Amino acid sequence: MVKGLFAALAAGLVAVPLLANTPSISAEEETPDILAPGEGRDETFYYCVACHNTALIRRSGFSRQQWDELMDWMTERHGMNPLEGELRETIVNYLAQAYPPRRQRGPAFTNPFASN
Ligand code: HEC
Repeated sequence: MVKGLFAALAAGLVAVPLLANTPSISAEEETPDILAPGEGRDETFYYCVACHNTALIRRSGFSRQQWDELMDWMTERHGMNPLEGELRETIVNYLAQAYPPRRQRGPAFTNPFASN
């Protein structure tokens, strides 16, 4: 039926612009693998991205104690759910090994494009 064909075409033509207008989330969307590899990465990612993206984390370099204190600061100052117990251990340990103070991060430049 010609009419049916037109209807189908019209539906297709309507659907395409609708899809094209869907805001692109891919550019901003982050997944856990944006963080340095390590045990506790996923826990850290999901706990922390509730309020801000990982740029704040990735650009930081702290000792374990500083990361630990930062968790309290985030809770007191910014209303983060208190991070306690095992999860706190996991996350602070992860942060301390993945984002240590910059000076201690290793003697040599590491190529960010090299596979690890
Ligand atoms: C309840 C919301 C919230 C959660 C959850 C949260 N943060 Fe934050 N965080 C903030 C706010 C607000 C700031 C300040 C942002 C600014 O200064 O622009 C901040 C700032 C930071 C900073 C920058 C500190 C500096 O040097 O100025 C780091 C690093 C950070 N957060 C790490 C984390 C980590 C790691 C987690 C997960 C354990 C986390 N955040 C979870 C709200 C949160």
